[in-house]
Amino acid sequence: MDLRAFIDLLACEGLLKRFERQVDWKYELGEIARTNQTPLLFENIKDYPGQRLFTNGMSSLESMGLALGMGREKHRRRIVKEAKRRAANPIKPEVADTGPIFENAVPGPEIDFLKFPVPLWSRLESGRYIGTWHINVTRDPETGSRNVGVYRMEVKGPKLASVCTSPKSHLGQQFLKAEKADAPLEMAVAIGVSEAVVMAAGAGCAYGVDEYELAGGLQQEPVRLVRCGTVSLEVPVDSEIVIEGVIKPSVRVQDGPYLDYAGAPDTSLAFLFEATRLMFRKNAIFRGTAIGLPGAEDQQIFSILSALGLFDFHGSWPKRLIQAPLIQWRLFRAFQLAGRAKGRSLVRRSN
Ligand SMILES: Cc1cc2nc3c(=O)[nH]c(=O)nc-3n(C[C@H](O)[C@H](O)[C@H](O)COP(=O)(O)O)c2cc1C
Repeated sequence: MDLRAFIDLLACEGLLKRFERQVDWKYELGEIARTNQTPLLFENIKDYPGQRLFTNGMSSLESMGLALGMGREKHRRRIVKEAKRRAANPIKPEVADTGPIFENAVPGPEIDFLKFPVPLWSRLESGRYIGTWHINVTRDPETGSRNVGVYRMEVKGPKLASVCTSPKSHLGQQFLKAEKADAPLEMAVAIGVSEAVVMAAGAGCAYGVDEYELAGGLQQEPVRLVRCGTVSLEVPVDSEIVIEGVIKPSVRVQDGPYLDYAGAPDTSLAFLFEATRLMFRKNAIFRGTAIGLPGAEDQQIFSILSALGLFDFHGSWPKRLIQAPLIQWRLFRAFQLAGRAKGRSLVRRSN
């Protein structure tokens, strides 16, 4: 089920709230998203006539059940049981020749990320985050194994963005290998993919495991991929927006302050990504999220992932030992407090 089919399903089930009145991308949209933890479709965004933004797709057990094709399931235990069974049976992705993502292509020099309604999600944040509910696809420069993760991205120029992660994350490890050889690391960013793909990307799998296979298992059908044009990577064919590019070696930029999962503004040193090509579907729907409040959609998926033994922020093991059960049992505030403790586990301050 692609994002559009999911939005239609939510609407049919009476679970989608539409905003037809004009909403400002600056602060207002994020404030509405935080205070209405239910699936939202913004159809009239200031300065962006005709463009739409979807958020909070995974903000409740019911919408999560629908996204994973389990029906309108209200019982967490049943979702966990079924998700466990599915995660144990990964399905390999398939590669297609073409698909809707090729409907529009913008070459590197003409790219401007802010042609999309990228919100300024919070007054506490330094800039506009294009990557909040997306996937980052990369390859190990030595072994060629693929990694699919979720690492936040702040707009730093028309075709530049930070990529914020710890050197211990799988992207971090791959990038450090490339940097050692003074080479850029190719990366593709897909926005508006199926929710199962984001959930798999947010999972703490072992290094070398292909998260597309986990996503296939979770959604019980192969993720259909297409090959990118300017980088040797594959992205879901039904993505709304795809950005191809490279992470530059020997460059670090400041990312944030950003209101992260722990509910406090975080500032980190981050990698710098430069886009080489951008593609988008006709009438692309932007997908993002405003996290930071207890029980936000990121925590909803971490709660299920933790029950599957797939929660890992690549921090210290004692911290993970504390955070994993807290999030599994939906003790969201306590999970946030543990996240705010010294030595944050999700993102390192410097490297
Ligand atoms: C919505 C969302 C946002 C996330 N943001 C970040 C981030 O900015 N940096 C980061 O290192 N991890 C972030 N994570 C957690 C990682 O996706 C998670 O640790 C995952 O296991 C990383 O993949 P890896 O194990 O392949 O490195 C986020 C997860 C989700 C679902």
